[in-house]
Amino acid sequence: MLKKIDRIRNEFAAELAAVDSLKQLTLVRDKYLSRKSGIVTLMMKELQQVAPEDRREFGQQLNALKSEVEGALQTRETQLADNALVARLVSDRVDVTLPGNRKPIGHPHPLTLVRSELEDIFYSIGYSVEDGPEVETTFHNFEALNTPEHHPARDPQDTFYISDTLVLRTHTSPVQIRTMQKQQPPLRIICPGKVYRRDNPDTTHSPAFQQLEGLAVDEGLTFRDFKGTIEYFLKAFFSQKTRVRFRPSYFAFTEPSAEVDISCIFCSGNGCRVCKMSGWVEVLGCGMVDPAVFSYVNYDPEKYTGFAFGLGIERFAMLKYSVNNIQYFYESDLRFLEQF
Ligand code: PHE
Repeated sequence: MLKKIDRIRNEFAAELAAVDSLKQLTLVRDKYLSRKSGIVTLMMKELQQVAPEDRREFGQQLNALKSEVEGALQTRETQLADNALVARLVSDRVDVTLPGNRKPIGHPHPLTLVRSELEDIFYSIGYSVEDGPEVETTFHNFEALNTPEHHPARDPQDTFYISDTLVLRTHTSPVQIRTMQKQQPPLRIICPGKVYRRDNPDTTHSPAFQQLEGLAVDEGLTFRDFKGTIEYFLKAFFSQKTRVRFRPSYFAFTEPSAEVDISCIFCSGNGCRVCKMSGWVEVLGCGMVDPAVFSYVNYDPEKYTGFAFGLGIERFAMLKYSVNNIQYFYESDLRFLEQF
């Protein structure tokens, strides 16, 4: 019997050594300790048949074997559980020092920035934004703006004609007409948008560019209101130190008409290459709405007066950000765009 105990001990040790999962461990435990058929359990039962004088020793040996087996199983179980935990910690390990995979975030195009800044300025003084089609009738683009047929401004050399009566709008001024056709004064609107001219691309020209139109119509609006508005907005956009001057000019749909210059923002008016040593740079065209225009939209020219202006958004962006080539805005070169 002692030999048998030794044999079992050795067999158990060998089997336990081969165990490397909790599942296998349970099988081994059942094989040796299960209540009905465990090898050690059965040995305990055999004890009754052992001669009484030997029973004590065998009993002790058997008990020792049993607790050895139990202890070894327990130790192995703890080991296996620890190993599993360690393995999981290793495989799930997160290196918090690795750089994150952050997605680059885009930002508005410089022309969009300038456009919304201009919109904000006019919003804040009570203007609302209007929109109009880029494919425009010759009536809205020319006729109703007091530019009759055979007027040189309608020359196909300057205008993209789609048909005899349809053009790509050459300015945002037709939105003046569209707005007056559907709304009665008082009126204060701006209209930003794309316009098209048959110009060859160079550092200051593009066949497609953006303008922002403004129009105010009310009873009793004067040139003073007009000057005040233009000066207020140019100072708000460029700087409070900017000086503003009006020069007489000509547009078919305004009378009187003016071109507006600001003191050169690069040399503060001292003279430099940008202002061609004059100290002034031209920024927009404008004027009091010609009463002839009111007659196209059935406004009473005796009752209402108005003023209008149009500016190039690219030009404003070039001045504000010191960009010396309009083409940069259209080339989608990230080295340029990332600077804004
Ligand atoms: N539409 C004119 C242009 O494109 C600018 C302008 C707008 C002039 C409104 C006077 C009044 O040159």
